[in-house]
Amino acid sequence: MVRLISLAVLACLASVPARAQGVLNLYCSVQIEWCQAAATNFQRETGIRVNVTQRGSGETLAAIRAEAQNPRGDLWFGGTGDPHLAAAEENLTQAYESPHAGQLQPWALAQHRQSGGRAIGVYAGAVGFGFNSELLQRRGLAPPRSWADLVDPRYRGEIQVANPNSSGTAYVIIATLVQLMGEDRAFAYLRELHPNINAYARSGTGPIKAVARGETAISLSFVHDAVTEKNAGFPVGWTTPTEGTGFEIGSMSILRGARNLAQARRFYDWALTVEAQRLGFDIGKQLQTPSNRAAPLTEGAPDLTVIRLIDYDFARYGRSAERRRLIERWDREIGALPR
Ligand code: F6P
Repeated sequence: MVRLISLAVLACLASVPARAQGVLNLYCSVQIEWCQAAATNFQRETGIRVNVTQRGSGETLAAIRAEAQNPRGDLWFGGTGDPHLAAAEENLTQAYESPHAGQLQPWALAQHRQSGGRAIGVYAGAVGFGFNSELLQRRGLAPPRSWADLVDPRYRGEIQVANPNSSGTAYVIIATLVQLMGEDRAFAYLRELHPNINAYARSGTGPIKAVARGETAISLSFVHDAVTEKNAGFPVGWTTPTEGTGFEIGSMSILRGARNLAQARRFYDWALTVEAQRLGFDIGKQLQTPSNRAAPLTEGAPDLTVIRLIDYDFARYGRSAERRRLIERWDREIGALPR
């Protein structure tokens, strides 16, 4: 379900009249609380009224494709980097050079170069396993430590992961396995894993929220989202696979045909500042690594420099045809398996 929030009421509170400053239609693929905080703060600072539509990364790419002839969004904030690269390649987004680009980490700028200037990195995060420590203890199970552990029959029906059609997280997981094992072995692995999966959720954060609520023992998730649930008081822990793991460059792009281009550029510049990048931390909903070099990593947030990361091939797995092909193969060979 698409979540729409009109912040028109808040605009009345802004010091500058919103109508004079215009509107921004924001497509947002981070957690809804961060989308709302970004919209509210940007609106307060600029008087630009922000309409937020929150959807998963895959869902947003599908919407942007469907609206290509009559774009309704102006800027796409957050979500995994691969669909932003696919959108750039499909000419659904437009190039922009922000004056703040010089403040960013090399990986954020690599995303900019890779996309022909059409996307830029806002944050980074690693894939791993989230688990409910109370539930695991009750079942006499140890947390998984490796991809190999995960297919163990003792985890039958205990694991949740998202569906790659809607979720960018799920696509990063598939692309990671393909890079670690080779494509055919990765799909054989996913078939072997299937009996251990109790649901393929719509959103990438769905499985870790289910872990927090005690509905499933284990999730395949970005590990920063496990820390978010732990900080909210749930008995949640996380590990990263010993064989190595993939990661995302959470990105931002201005849509081609944006009707509110000046407002979109203003948001883009603002979102790269330290102040904006701290916002998600302040509300406890962003524990990714920020792309602004001066923005601190929140205490307790996963430190990517000590996680065994693969050399994720963004050029290849961000390619539109490759992404489509792998997701179609997942639909045929995994999504269609009986439950
Ligand atoms: O906001 C949390 C988060 O994990 C981001 O780090 C990531 O870019 C996004 O969710 C992916 O969401 P989805 O898998 O639903 O596309």
